[in-house]
Amino acid sequence: MTRPPRQFRITPMLQIGPVSISRPVVLAALAGVSDLSFRTLNRAFGCEFAFTEMVNARSLCENNRHTHQLLATHAADRPLAIQLFGNDPDYLELAVNRLNDRGFALIDFNAACPQRKVVKDGKGAALLRDLPLLQSLLRVMVRAARVPVTVKIRLGWGTASGAENIARAVEDAGVAAVIVHGRTQAQGYSGVVNYDAIERVKKAVRVPVIASGDIFSGELARLMMERTGVDAVAVARGAFGNPWIFRQIYAALAGEPLPRQPAGVEIADTMREHLGMCVDARGERTAVVDFRKFYIWYTKGFTGVKQLRCRISQVATRPQMEEHIEAFRGIAQARERKVSCRKAMPQLVVEREVA
Ligand SMILES: Cc1cc2nc3c(=O)[nH]c(=O)nc-3n(C[C@H](O)[C@H](O)[C@H](O)COP(=O)(O)O)c2cc1C
Repeated sequence: MTRPPRQFRITPMLQIGPVSISRPVVLAALAGVSDLSFRTLNRAFGCEFAFTEMVNARSLCENNRHTHQLLATHAADRPLAIQLFGNDPDYLELAVNRLNDRGFALIDFNAACPQRKVVKDGKGAALLRDLPLLQSLLRVMVRAARVPVTVKIRLGWGTASGAENIARAVEDAGVAAVIVHGRTQAQGYSGVVNYDAIERVKKAVRVPVIASGDIFSGELARLMMERTGVDAVAVARGAFGNPWIFRQIYAALAGEPLPRQPAGVEIADTMREHLGMCVDARGERTAVVDFRKFYIWYTKGFTGVKQLRCRISQVATRPQMEEHIEAFRGIAQARERKVSCRKAMPQLVVEREVA
C-alpha cells in the first residue's frame, strides 16, 4: 500500500542541550573512516557537526596508543562529539572524566554496533537486549559528564517491534538526544531502513532524535525527515568518497534545485587533498594502504575506470597513489559522476511521486 508523505516541518536547526547546530545534518560515527582527516575534509564541504569513530572506553582508560590516535582533533574540528563503547560502568565513568575537559561538545554512547566481535562481549547492540544494564551505564555517564550525553541505538535486536521502548528507556536514563539507526542488529547494514519504526521512536521521546540509515542523497535525507518527523539526519556511507553530499542535502532540505554531481576533475583534486591530509596525519605507508578504500569510493559511478580500481591493491606509495589519481583524472575529466540508485531509493521515490 502506498502512503502519502506527511508534511512535517523540517527543523531548520538542531538543539541538543546547550549545543546548537545550524542545520539538521551531522556526520555519523564511522569506525575506520571518520578520523580527523575525513572529518576535516567533510567540514570543508559544509559538514558542521561530526562524531568520532567509536572508542573503546576501557582502551582509553588503559592509555592504549591506537585508541589515543582516535581522539586526535584540532581547533577547526569543532563542534565534535566523541563516541564511546563498552559495558563496564567503572571504565565508562573514568573515560567520561578524562574526556570532560577535552573540548568535545557531546559524549555519545554506542548501543548500535552489530559486529560479532563487539556484541559477543555484550557491547554495542547487545545492550539492546538488556535495557536495565543500558540504562545504568547511561546514568553513570550522564552523572559524570559535564557535557550532554547522547546514545546511538538500533531499532532492536531481531525485530523492530520494541523500538519505542528502547527509546523511552534511554530517555529515562537522562540522554540529551537519541541517534537511531533504522535497522535491527540482525539486519546489519543491509535491507531497507524502517521509516515507520523510526517514526515511533521519534514520537516516543521528547529529546531530539537523529535518524541514520540510507542517507545516500539529498532526496533520501529529505524523505527521511518527511516520513519520520525526526529532528536531523546522520550521513554515513553516503559520505564515502562523496563530501559533496552535504551541499546536496542542504539544497534538498531547502527545496532548492540539487547542485550538479561533481565532475572527474573535481573528484581528482579532492582525492589529492584528502590523500595529503591522511599522509600528514598517519605517515605515508599506513595512509596510502588505508586510502585504497577511499580511491574505490571516489571513483564509483564512472565508466572506464574498472582496471584502475582493480589495480588499487598494488598501490603502496604516495607517488603511486597520485599517479593512480591522475590516471582517473585523465579518464573521467569533465564527466559527471553518475548517481547510483541504491535499492531503497527507486521504490521510495516512486512511492512519493505516486502520492
Ligand atoms: C564502515 C562503517 C563503520 C561504522 N562505524 C560506526 C561507529 O563507530 N559507531 C556507530 O555508531 N556507527 C557506526 N557505523 C554505522 C553508521 O554510523 C550508520 O549508522 C550506518 O551506516 C547506517 O547509515 P547508512 O545506511 O546511511 O550508511 C558504521 C558504519 C559503517 C559502514
